[in-house]
Amino acid sequence: MNDTTLLQAIYVSRATPDFAASSIHALLTGWRANNAALNVTGILFYYRNSFLQVLEGPGTGVRKQLDIFLDDGRHADIAVLTTESVPAKLFGEWSMGYVDADAAGNLVDEYVTPGVACPLLALSASDAKRMLAFFRTVAGG
Ligand SMILES: Cc1cc2nc3c(=O)[nH]c(=O)nc-3n(C[C@H](O)[C@H](O)[C@H](O)COP(=O)(O)O)c2cc1C
Repeated sequence: MNDTTLLQAIYVSRATPDFAASSIHALLTGWRANNAALNVTGILFYYRNSFLQVLEGPGTGVRKQLDIFLDDGRHADIAVLTTESVPAKLFGEWSMGYVDADAAGNLVDEYVTPGVACPLLALSASDAKRMLAFFRTVAGG
């Protein structure tokens, strides 16, 4: 199949008690291999029991991964903020970058509402994009 469209999907979700943040690095090894096999790249933020994830790649790969993630009981209340074709990847260098914002909360505090539970879940699409644009400059490139 000819799948040249570059798709970017951004979603937020709430971590359930089934998600163990302490095991994320072991999980990421497998997740990165899965993404790489589909040419999907991106970044995953975790902050106070909430996630924000960006997936970028061929539409078939991004949709396939999204479908799988939506079914994963380790998160809930999943809200897809955007699914759109983009001219270039924002985070093309990682099969899945990971930002533990609990360890570096001041990096995201400017973009989230102070004091809310699951802060990433409350982000609007435009705030999410502002936050990602900022991280893009931090990540260099
Ligand atoms: C917040 C969150 C983000 C995830 N991100 C990825 C990912 O980037 N790539 C991936 O393959 N699986 C990811 N997963 C896991 C998938 O839902 C699924 O468990 C996994 O792809 C199954 O892979 P396996 O068949 O190799 O075990 C994520 C799960 C959660 C809860």
